[in-house]
Amino acid sequence: MFEENIRKLKEQGLLRQIRERASGQGPVIAIGRRKFVNFSSNDYLGLANHPVLANAATQAMHKYGFGAGASRLLVGGTLLHEKLEKSIAAWKGTDAARVFNSGYAANTGILPALASENDIIFSDALNHASLIDGCRLSRAKTVVYRHKDIRHLQALMNRCKTSGKKIVVTDTVFSMDGDIAPLRDLYDLCRSVNASHITHRTLLLYLDDAHGTGVLGKGKGALSHFNIKPERWIIQMGTFSKALGAFGAFAAGSDDVVRWISNRARSLLFSTALPPAVIAAASVAVQMIRKDRGLIEKLWSNREYLIKALYAIGYDSTLSETPIIPIKTSSNEAAVRMSQFFFKHGVYVPAIRPPTVKEPRLRIVVTAAHEKKHLDKLVSLLKQLKGT
Ligand SMILES: Cc1ncc(COP(=O)(O)O)c(C=O)c1O
Repeated sequence: MFEENIRKLKEQGLLRQIRERASGQGPVIAIGRRKFVNFSSNDYLGLANHPVLANAATQAMHKYGFGAGASRLLVGGTLLHEKLEKSIAAWKGTDAARVFNSGYAANTGILPALASENDIIFSDALNHASLIDGCRLSRAKTVVYRHKDIRHLQALMNRCKTSGKKIVVTDTVFSMDGDIAPLRDLYDLCRSVNASHITHRTLLLYLDDAHGTGVLGKGKGALSHFNIKPERWIIQMGTFSKALGAFGAFAAGSDDVVRWISNRARSLLFSTALPPAVIAAASVAVQMIRKDRGLIEKLWSNREYLIKALYAIGYDSTLSETPIIPIKTSSNEAAVRMSQFFFKHGVYVPAIRPPTVKEPRLRIVVTAAHEKKHLDKLVSLLKQLKGT
């Protein structure tokens, strides 16, 4: 039935292939019988395969068993869920937090709970697909502003009138470009609108901090990176699935917002809770990075090392401000060819193509777990590709 569509994708260099690991996550992974230096995962701090997380999960499993058995509202949650939510709220400096089953489930559940037909969402042009889907599901009017362009956002906000709510939605770290949203300017803009009492409604700022949590602001996330104190009108969503090495997500904000989404987010109400073992692993990951800054420092020093080396051999990665480092390619085929070249030489760097991004690229992610020899291997292959 779909053979023709698949053939077309193949012709356009857009057919994707799922490769499965034969090892745990880490700086070196096995695919089939071969080992690869891995630059593809979002396991920024190397926690996904950490024994402390595995032990916490095992202990929770012994106490609570594996499956959660029901949604949180039907007592699918445990005391571990509640403890994790309290620790996230304390860490993020908010009244409360609620755990969601994934980042995707959080964004597609929370945005429709916050906004409906009468409301307007202003969304950055490069926001993650889960935010885009959340906007669509909300049925609010969605107005897209140019990537990180605050003047454009302000002009659109002045132009678009509603008697309902306005919500600004942005990734904090853009997952395919590795650049950071201008949060100070966004914050100032939203604060001035909220202070002006032009409408009696508060403007909300919804931040997807999936790639900022555990990475920016000494791990605390993007608001802390910009030295911004949480406000009642800011909602910080983040994930346990990336730097925290576990799975699941959270939304942290004011008490009323968290209570409202706990009553209205369909991905929370109508989906089985995360298993206690997953929650226990996320909890110890949060504790670890709050106590020990060493891993975050290693992540950033590895990133600086790689960026300098790339620059020295003529790759311009100046757009990236984080451990996500894209190398744009001239075509989809070129991205695939380069990725295959790395694969042949035992390095895994995925090609990212439409519809994930408009412009094809290699997406390199450096982590705290990489050793110098791993980074040097990548650089020497990139040098060969440049013919230098
Ligand atoms: C910015 C952003 N938000 C949300 C998600 C979804 O998170 P999860 O993988 O936990 O569903 C991702 C994952 O790729 C992401 O990059």
